[in-house]
Amino acid sequence: MLILSMFFISIFLYFFYYYCLPFIIWYNEYVKSIYGGNKMKVLVAGGAGYIGSHICVELLQANHEVIVIDDFSNSKPEVLGYIKDITGKDVKFYEFNILDEKKTEQVFIENEIDAVIHCAAFKAVGESVEKPIEYYTNNLTTTLIVAKMMKKYHVNNIVFSSSATVYGDPEVVPLTEDCKLGETTNPYGASKAMMERILTDVQHACPEMSVTLLRYFNPIGAHESGLLGEDPKGIPNNLMPYIMKVAAGELPCLGVFGDDYDTPDGTGVRDYIHVVDLAKGHVLAIEKYNKPGLHVCNLGTGQGYSVLELVHAFERVNGVKVKYEIKPRRAGDIATCYADPTRAKEELGWVATRGIDEMCRDTWNFAKTRMK
Ligand code: UD1
Repeated sequence: MLILSMFFISIFLYFFYYYCLPFIIWYNEYVKSIYGGNKMKVLVAGGAGYIGSHICVELLQANHEVIVIDDFSNSKPEVLGYIKDITGKDVKFYEFNILDEKKTEQVFIENEIDAVIHCAAFKAVGESVEKPIEYYTNNLTTTLIVAKMMKKYHVNNIVFSSSATVYGDPEVVPLTEDCKLGETTNPYGASKAMMERILTDVQHACPEMSVTLLRYFNPIGAHESGLLGEDPKGIPNNLMPYIMKVAAGELPCLGVFGDDYDTPDGTGVRDYIHVVDLAKGHVLAIEKYNKPGLHVCNLGTGQGYSVLELVHAFERVNGVKVKYEIKPRRAGDIATCYADPTRAKEELGWVATRGIDEMCRDTWNFAKTRMK
């Protein structure tokens, strides 16, 4: 009798392990994938900034949990409330600079982080020329500390905010990821190239890691709610915030830096990308490049617009006037830069869906909300 029961129990266990268990595991994975089981805890370093705040919104809307470290050096605390207004969800927030290694480590101890999006960096080109020590210390050391903590706490997925500036003055356009990297013309640009190098070396030393270098072209625009956008302190360095402040009457006149470039109207041509499209690219990168290796991907639209085309689009879409005058070329500027975004489409299933009109409309909408 005992032998017979043992026999039936063995048969039962055999069938359970070989037929039922795989089915149960498959079913669990299936349910998880439908109801948000791929949810990750993502640390966004610099998550209160212009690009970081839009990334937080997209991550929360994709059902991920978000932890933010930011020292508000180029952002405002209200942003965290706006993220909640848009998504109905909270981020877990820590206020300090990542240079504080002890505090950074505490965040890794307190949270079971699955992935990091690193966009905490100083980014003003002109200021970087004045303050190279501060720029290199901040941008490089924070990257080293983040990488060190990831290694120590076995966090194996990082997406890094890089820039098309690493291509230097392109020999050909559109730029693919295989184009050779160029001379950077300022400490900000050089720090981006060095941060890419640090993370590339870390990935080689830790092959279990996924390191993604996202090379942004020119992010502009704002969240369609009008709550999040780019509001630089003082005189803006970049074109779109300058246009916005001239249209709003905060600055008298836009200087167009050079009209004698080898471009259709003589002014510089860039690949402007809506910040919400850019943020969506991060969510896809964190999900789809979540496998060991080094991944490099451009985020741009593939379409170039000149300075004057952007100015005129802004005037047309918003029914406002943007006063401008032609000035000499700005040191370090290049004539034309735009992306070949094929890899982002093929590997991430990402394409920019917002055009120049939406970029202008949302920037102005943000400006009006901000002026209220
Ligand atoms: C700049 C940085 C780049 C950085 C990027 C971040 C330089 C040389 N490069 O790119 O490293 O990653 O910002 O977004 O600064 N322009 C004017 N008047 C202005 C401002 C800009 O005519 O007041 C022109 C520029 O000459 C250029 C275009 O507008 O042709 C875009 O300039 P900007 O918005 O500063 O971006 P980039 O120079 O492309």
